[in-house]
Amino acid sequence: MNLLQQKIITEGQVLSDSILKVDSFLNHQIDPQLMKYIGEEFAGLFAEAGITKILTIESSGIAPSVMAGLSLGVPVVFARKRKSLTLVDQLYSSKVYSFTKNETNEISIANSYITSDDVVLVIDDFLANGQAALGLIDIVEQAGATAAGVGIVIEKGFQNGGNLIRERGIRVESLAIIDSLSDGIVTFKGENSR
Ligand code: G4P
Ligand code: NA
Ligand code: NA
Repeated sequence: MNLLQQKIITEGQVLSDSILKVDSFLNHQIDPQLMKYIGEEFAGLFAEAGITKILTIESSGIAPSVMAGLSLGVPVVFARKRKSLTLVDQLYSSKVYSFTKNETNEISIANSYITSDDVVLVIDDFLANGQAALGLIDIVEQAGATAAGVGIVIEKGFQNGGNLIRERGIRVESLAIIDSLSDGIVTFKGENSR
């Protein structure tokens, strides 16, 4: 079990068969030491991919992305979910539907921050139905840049997002893949369920 998986076991709270709460280190309070580890893991996995930029989405994707950007020596851009007051630039936008929240958000970035020369690593905290990651990939494609892959902190393997992205031929690397949250127990992929 890696550091992240240990942290999930000790501090994660299983709220239902499909929702894992990790507010103590990822979604509310942030554990910088763990984020550093996560950033280095992503950097190692994508070291040979020629990454020039990391693209994530506010808010919980930012912390792991910044640490990965530090390790890879590349800038980090985060898509906004609400239009900024100062946003007078030309935008790339994509509509992202959340099955969990039953709402659609338009995410956007100023088009100056990704160019057709960029090789982009998309990072997010959770991968559930994959809509956020697909929206980010859509933005990369609009910019004419290359999507080198997706780095995910926690993938819920029992939901469809991972399949949707992988079947497009895009590399997905998840640091923890959860197979099941049944009966309040976290089971990781490759672990024997009891
Ligand atoms: P999708 O992009 O994979 O389709 O995800 P979905 O719409 O289902 O998720 C909506 C929000 O809920 C996202 O955060 C996502 O990270 C988060 N989420 C989904 N499943 C879980 C879960 O089991 N546990 C936790 N803790 N979060 C989950 P967001 O609204 O973008 O918020 P933010 O945290 O980035 O600000
Ligand atoms: Na997120
Ligand atoms: Na989130």
